Amino acid sequence: MTERVLTGITTTGTPHLGNYVGAIRPAIQASLEPGVESFFFLADYHALIKCDEPARIERSRLEIAATWLAAGLDPARVTFYRQSDIPEIPELTWLLTCVASKGLMNRAHAYKAATDANLAAGEDLDAGITMGLFSYPILMAADILMFNAHRVPVGRDQVQHIEMARDLAQRFNHLFGAGRELFVLPQADIDERVAMLPGLDGRKMSKSYDNTVPLFEGGAAGLRDALARVVTDSRAPGEPKEPEGAQLVAIFDAFADDAERAALRAALRAGLGWGDAKAQVVARIERDIAPMRARYAELVAHPQRIEQTLLDGARKARALAAPFLKELRHAVGLRPMVAVVAPVAVEAKARPALPVFKQYRETDGKFYFKLTASDGRVLLQSAAFDSGRDAGQWVARLKTSGAVADAPVARGDSVSVREVEDALALLGAAAVVSPAS
Ligand code: TRP
Repeated sequence: MTERVLTGITTTGTPHLGNYVGAIRPAIQASLEPGVESFFFLADYHALIKCDEPARIERSRLEIAATWLAAGLDPARVTFYRQSDIPEIPELTWLLTCVASKGLMNRAHAYKAATDANLAAGEDLDAGITMGLFSYPILMAADILMFNAHRVPVGRDQVQHIEMARDLAQRFNHLFGAGRELFVLPQADIDERVAMLPGLDGRKMSKSYDNTVPLFEGGAAGLRDALARVVTDSRAPGEPKEPEGAQLVAIFDAFADDAERAALRAALRAGLGWGDAKAQVVARIERDIAPMRARYAELVAHPQRIEQTLLDGARKARALAAPFLKELRHAVGLRPMVAVVAPVAVEAKARPALPVFKQYRETDGKFYFKLTASDGRVLLQSAAFDSGRDAGQWVARLKTSGAVADAPVARGDSVSVREVEDALALLGAAAVVSPAS
């Protein structure tokens, strides 16, 4: 079976080196592996969450599409499309929204960061927060699950979103799959070496921090000027410098091979000036980027060609999405009237057994609980509680939020964190259908 790789880029800005190194380059490399089927798209619905300037959205869509193509994406080999050209995606978003527990979404980093900022500013917790931002992970899950992607190359900051997509897939499968896996459970794919490119100030390179190095904008001079602003220590030329931990070196590493990395390190330790080091970094990046910049300029000058490429891509994507969505609609009960035949109980029985929480009291008089998998293995064992109520509250908290990290519990023998999380995700889903259980 082929492996499906999928990733998207939010179209709110001008592509920077971080986008190239963290998303575009690894994705294109993955698309060239044999046995890989790739889906790359412009996340322009996601863009609307963060940006209410139509002209900027329009410009960014063009620039990001041209960047993918200039960087070597082959539209004949890859399914390359705009999210907003696939109406099946927002429809799937709704199906997923209906199984997404609000408690899980409360924990999403982007939303948490926004409420934390409001708290710090003494504002209402949800001030200025849209439902778009709150539901961001669900739309992203729909992007991924619509095409049953196995692998999703993303930056480390997106890993939580992939975990949420996985949770939603699992809940949906459990509720509506009747024993069948409707959705593939996706996995984040991070290139450990370059997972997070530092920006000019050492924080992650991101438009939100305004610390980016433009990829094509401004030409070679733009690249040189931006890298001139990378923060370094104040050691003068001739003084030995520590390369490890310097963000200039980290940026270089994202483009260099092992020999080049070793050479720059040795030169810095031998006293190479930061200014000269920056010139070397610019030259190394230019070797990769300059040929693409020429293709980029040519593409941006012909937006009609890009438009056509994207429409062709959307046709390919919808040929998969439309029949799959039909199946999903059927699975949740949105079916033609004539099909109402099977008694509900038959489907209920086909559902695999759930993990269970058991609360009990030991001869020591203390209260305990454990979480047991459907095959009887102990997934979690609690510490002793003086009151049954305390134990019960922890069970409730684990069921609703799935937050294991701070709970007084130990994992069972050879039970992985993932297994526990998956079990809790299933329980969250179960609570949605039968609150009595
Ligand atoms: N949220 C991603 C980002 O900002 C972009 C994105 C949207 C995405 N949908 C996706 C990435 C699906 C991977 C898969 O970087």
